[in-house]
Amino acid sequence: MGEICVISGNANRDLAEKIARCLDIPLADVLCGRFSEGEIRVQIISNVRGKDVFIVQPTCSPTNDNLMELLVLIDAAKRASAARITAVLPFYGYARQDRKDQPRVPITAKLVANLMTAAGVDRVLAMDLHASQIQGFFDIPVDHLYAINTLCEYFENMGMKNLVVVSPDIGGIRMARAYAKRLGAGLAIIDKRRMSPEETEVMNILGKVKGKTAILVDDMIATGGSMMEAIKAIKEMGVEKVYAAVSHGVLSGNAIEKIQANKDLEEIVITDSIPLPKSKKISRIKQLTVAPLLAEAIKRIHNEQSISCLFDVNR
Ligand code: R5P
Repeated sequence: MGEICVISGNANRDLAEKIARCLDIPLADVLCGRFSEGEIRVQIISNVRGKDVFIVQPTCSPTNDNLMELLVLIDAAKRASAARITAVLPFYGYARQDRKDQPRVPITAKLVANLMTAAGVDRVLAMDLHASQIQGFFDIPVDHLYAINTLCEYFENMGMKNLVVVSPDIGGIRMARAYAKRLGAGLAIIDKRRMSPEETEVMNILGKVKGKTAILVDDMIATGGSMMEAIKAIKEMGVEKVYAAVSHGVLSGNAIEKIQANKDLEEIVITDSIPLPKSKKISRIKQLTVAPLLAEAIKRIHNEQSISCLFDVNR
């Protein structure tokens, strides 16, 4: 295997640059633009023949453009004789449709996995997939990292006491338990019902939250509907202060307005898996970088070393 080569599409160039800096190498020189009618135009200027290529491209919004760019970049790297191509997907879009839970709906998480494989990717490096089972949608190696250590470190440094970690839905229990263990906090779970992609309703809260400082833990915040409902419910149960730890700041629709208007939320901590544009930078949102985590994983994958210590959520 030749040396490491990091390529970035247009999805999150800042993160790709930070990863390259952590690896002490420059980003590969790549032209990733558009033809006049909008088709994606790619040319890898640097030589990638025989190299271990890592394409950093979260499939965040604009999802279709970013996904198509990723596929085109994979194709270009393959035709340029890269020895191995790894798609680095700090955020995996189309993941929410991961099962057929209604008649005549697609499983887009599987469709996207098929597309990447057909384009010629050899492995995937992902972070906080919406559902861990998505790993099984690929028949190639998938390394699945978590932002828990980056996010927990931030809260540990704040030295907060009397904490309870709250999972806003049943699906998040395993991760919330890992946060609770790591922070020496109690655990509470919200039993949520989803009425539509934008609307949720809290049915029950399991666990003691009264008088405590809560940290809501979720894989993503999109419209903010789930989080606002969860905050309202735990406040009504007597929580003192509310923080949130979220891996992916999708922040779609009027999420920013909701966060700004909600005086019960002290701070929401997200990662840079998705870029945070200037218009979404508000004081109540703190963004932490996962570049060192991804760079370490890339280094270990390249050196054929174990990366399990990076995804040990219980350490
Ligand atoms: C749900 O299963 C996820 O973990 C998130 O809670 C959800 O996708 C967030 O979406 P929104 O912010 O639109 O409620």
